[in-house]
Amino acid sequence: MSTNPSQTTQPGPSRRPRILTGDTPTSSGLHLGHWVGSVENRVRLQDEYDCYFLIANMHAFTTLADRPGDIRANTIGIVKDWLAAGIDPERSTIVLQTECPAIAELSWFFAMLLPFNRVMRNPTLKTEIDVKGLGDTYSFGFPLYAVGQCADILAFRPELVPVGEDQVAHIEMCREVARRFNQVYCGVDPKTEDADYVKAGGIFPIPAAKVGRVARLVGIDGVNKMSKSLGNAIFLYDSPKDVQKKVNKIYTGRQSPTEPGDPNNALMQYVDAFLPRERAEEIKARYAAGDNIGDGHIKQELGAAINELLDPIRERRARLDGPQGDALAIDVLRRGTAKANALAEETLYMAKQAMRLDFGRRELRAVGL
Ligand code: TRP
Repeated sequence: MSTNPSQTTQPGPSRRPRILTGDTPTSSGLHLGHWVGSVENRVRLQDEYDCYFLIANMHAFTTLADRPGDIRANTIGIVKDWLAAGIDPERSTIVLQTECPAIAELSWFFAMLLPFNRVMRNPTLKTEIDVKGLGDTYSFGFPLYAVGQCADILAFRPELVPVGEDQVAHIEMCREVARRFNQVYCGVDPKTEDADYVKAGGIFPIPAAKVGRVARLVGIDGVNKMSKSLGNAIFLYDSPKDVQKKVNKIYTGRQSPTEPGDPNNALMQYVDAFLPRERAEEIKARYAAGDNIGDGHIKQELGAAINELLDPIRERRARLDGPQGDALAIDVLRRGTAKANALAEETLYMAKQAMRLDFGRRELRAVGL
């Protein structure tokens, strides 16, 4: 065998550890729940980590197969959302799933390492079937996306996967696939510690999920998780006025500034999420004691803090509106995907060697770059 193709991409002092995470373009338009649950983390981790951010447009076809135009528009919208939120394509790599064939190929092999019933027991899938009312009418491809997600991740051999809490079950399944592949095809002892799989000769590190600082942000209805479809969301691109209006709607049921308030109610959860730590603690203490602090005042302060956070994001997003912004987003996607393919192809080649499928290396070239 010739030189080891993994030399440049294995963990080591010379490279930053890798991150892979992504979004499915079933909609676009980020809200504050996405921000505190995941996007803020992604933006912050760009210096420390070599970041890959994937748009899972293939997965969007599991529920929107008859609406390809929407999937395309959402794909471009998400790239713009990310750029506006502060993801920097010079430092991070934005990947389009359907232009990264290694992912689809790895999905096939991974599907053979997971018992069918294990996939169907995945709690995230089960919840989705429930919440979306899919009954027993979902496509064959629907549960397959969870296997595909293992390949999305492992194609990039990352150490870390920053996600919202709802995705943790998928990451757990991905970890199982990684262990199993390493055991079956790379001869790694099943008793190996997760952290040692690569040292023990495996191809895939066992990636860890990293959940954002607020796992579940309640919507302005004060009841459900913030979600576009429930109409209880504050979007990153709402006008300053709309943000304040929505903040004013957060329901508490409290009557006066001297009435002791519930320090865990929706308003206090927002105070916790969006005001500086010390100020949040002070407000919560006074709120709980009914120490002459009115909901109206708190909402004013909160609205101002959220607007301060959103101002630069809103401004960047507005500049990306229109066809010129579309062209820029597509260019970012193409460049990122070309870079991502170099890594994903290397992973696939390593996996194929381990699986005795090494019939010579192929090369993917991005045309026109
Ligand atoms: N399923 C994820 C979601 O709905 C999106 C996603 C696809 C993803 N592939 C991924 C997230 C890989 C993390 C890693 O939010």
